[in-house]
Amino acid sequence: MEILGLGYVGLDVPDTEAWLAFGRDILGLDPGRAPDRDAYLPASETEGRGANGAVYFRVDDWSWRLALHPAAAPGLRYMGFEVAGPLELDAALAELEAAGFPARRGDAAECAARAVSGIGFTQDPGGHAIELFYGPLVTNGYRNSRGMEFLTGALGLGHINLFAADYARSADFYTRTLGFRLTDSYHVGPDQTVNFFHTNPRHHTVGIMQIAPFDGVHHLMLEVTELDMVGQAYDRVIAAGCRITASLSRHSNDRIVSFYVESPSGVEVEIGWGAITVGPDWTPKYRGPGDIWGHHGLTAESIEQTGGRA
Ligand SMILES: [Fe+2]
Repeated sequence: MEILGLGYVGLDVPDTEAWLAFGRDILGLDPGRAPDRDAYLPASETEGRGANGAVYFRVDDWSWRLALHPAAAPGLRYMGFEVAGPLELDAALAELEAAGFPARRGDAAECAARAVSGIGFTQDPGGHAIELFYGPLVTNGYRNSRGMEFLTGALGLGHINLFAADYARSADFYTRTLGFRLTDSYHVGPDQTVNFFHTNPRHHTVGIMQIAPFDGVHHLMLEVTELDMVGQAYDRVIAAGCRITASLSRHSNDRIVSFYVESPSGVEVEIGWGAITVGPDWTPKYRGPGDIWGHHGLTAESIEQTGGRA
């Protein structure tokens, strides 16, 4: 099947108000239109709060891209991957079933809950909820209120990195069944690798970490269009006293200049600029150190802590 990109992400968070302030004031996201609100009610009037208690953010012309759902335990609630249309969604769900992964088409209420035209549901081998969808609600004339501009479009929302207890099964699912292609891998330690997969020109849409004996989410990456936007976000993080889990750096594989900050729910957010893109002629690479410079502070202990919460 062909996945066009990462469309949206939903996280479980114990404190939606803390995440609302973090997303708005630190990351520079804007309130999105909550799918369960009146379509004519400006998102700014509700600060992106849904009637269901969730908080919704937007970064581009899509009505929302990131949802924070109230929950006792933090973690990944769902990942939404975009497909081209209704025929492609039917075919994808049939492929999943044929590969042994239970999948079902969502009804009208489930489409409305995500503001999409069609949706289907399955799970990856790590138990992460995966939603395949087409036809997101978009609105014209979006401009970010804090001077940020996020690089989305054909590249999708960004990338998400997952811990996988059974790397081989997860990698097989994302490549053989969902159609992702291996971009490259880092060597992290004995029998430990971080592996990057693409499904459009973005260097990776999904990263799978063969590093710890559990499944969970490590970080969500959002890319901006100018280096200064990374620096300005870094300034906001420092001014607010947020925990920087990896200092400013350039990764050796995607060449992104980025930093990582711990969100109020523990999931890290990477804000970056300048990543390379890959084309159909790309072949997988294997690398040693993951950074050309920087990213100080990403210790085994911090990875373990984040994974434990996820
Ligand atoms: Fe990343």
